[in-house]
Amino acid sequence: MTTDTPAYSPGLEGVPIAESALSLVEGQVGRLTYRGYSIEDLTGPQGTFEEIVALIYDGELPKPARILEMKRHLEAERGLTPGQIEFARSAAKLTHPMFALQAAVAILGPMDNDFERKVSTVTERGLSLTAKVGHLVGVIAQAVAGRPYEGPRPGESHAHMMLRMITGKEPSDLHTRVMDALLILQADHSAGNASTFTSRVVTSTKAEPESVVASAIGALSGPAHGGANEHSLRLFMEIGDPAGAEPKIQRLLEDKYKIPGFGHRVYHVKDPRSKVIQTLAAEVIKGETPEADHYQIALMVEKVATARLGDRGLFPNVDLFSGCVFEAIGIPIDIFTPVFAASRTAGWTANIREQWDSGNRIFRPAQIYVGAPVREYVPIDKR
Ligand SMILES: CC(C)(COP(=O)(O)OP(=O)(O)OC[C@H]1O[C@@H](n2cnc3c(N)ncnc32)[C@H](O)[C@@H]1OP(=O)(O)O)[C@@H](O)C(=O)NCCC(=O)NCCS
Repeated sequence: MTTDTPAYSPGLEGVPIAESALSLVEGQVGRLTYRGYSIEDLTGPQGTFEEIVALIYDGELPKPARILEMKRHLEAERGLTPGQIEFARSAAKLTHPMFALQAAVAILGPMDNDFERKVSTVTERGLSLTAKVGHLVGVIAQAVAGRPYEGPRPGESHAHMMLRMITGKEPSDLHTRVMDALLILQADHSAGNASTFTSRVVTSTKAEPESVVASAIGALSGPAHGGANEHSLRLFMEIGDPAGAEPKIQRLLEDKYKIPGFGHRVYHVKDPRSKVIQTLAAEVIKGETPEADHYQIALMVEKVATARLGDRGLFPNVDLFSGCVFEAIGIPIDIFTPVFAASRTAGWTANIREQWDSGNRIFRPAQIYVGAPVREYVPIDKR
């Protein structure tokens, strides 16, 4: 008997894992769209995270009244209990903020574990998580910085709340707009990226949405995925000077090290998000500042690495320049990936809903067994 086993594709390259109407990544032309609208348009001067959450969830560009409604909804949902705040603050003293966030999101889950019976609440739960994860990132950043808890203010937008809580300062309008743009840019990136795929897989076990998002945060933390933004800025700090970029990149490539912020499974041209981030960089990176120095090094890394890797289709991805912009608006380096997580929670949770809407068959792919054949057990005294 013959079986039609599909060819093994390491990393599931090219294997569709879901149908999604949320976002489209077009790797050859370098385009990212949410519900058909380009990220360049969505990150324009009027773009807000609330607008994009409404777009992703509703499928259409929201009218002003709907944006206001979404703003009020997220505001109403972002509250945390004193116990949740204390837990997040304690976790932030024990581990990297990303792991603290993962733990703090997991404990947002309910006392029961029977989401299938409550699946009609999937939109409500997803929006509540989107609101709460941003707040939690602020809580964790405050604890890491040794500041007391100071929560969201009435009427404050999601971006303003996050930036104020993270930095401990009143953000300017420019910085709030840049924060909105960063949250918009990272909100979704097709169902196939590692963390969103994780959210699909965990959803397929009928897990509670909080558990799904905690799992996705774990996937995002890795340096091959969201953690690359922190790693690229650390690399620039280590390089220290634009003239140091060439020898350092040369050495790293000789050692077969992957340059953080470079390369992508789908994009074989420059990541469109990194182009938007560079326009933001031009607005906020000014004067003789550490971020200006780091940005000059980033540009040199781009030049040197593109000369060596460009002909193989490897170009800057979202994480090469994002760290410099995060730094310019006052976000500490170990909070970069948690901010990414807060943004991507919108996409993860919308994918949870799509996964349920699509029938939610459990993911159970096959393996190719390469181990020992079936053999006789040997009792301990005979080995
Ligand atoms: C994003 C990433 C995980 C994609 O991985 P992938 O699709 O599995 O690609 P591969 O790792 O198979 O890479 C293909 C080839 O390009 C090389 N390559 C890929 N990214 C590279 C990088 N950043 N620096 C140097 N070489 C790289 C690989 O070494 C490999 O070379 P080989 O064929 O000689 O073995 C990978 O490019 C990477 O690790 N980049 C750095 C981390 C990063 O920025 N992540 C954020 C992504 S948004």
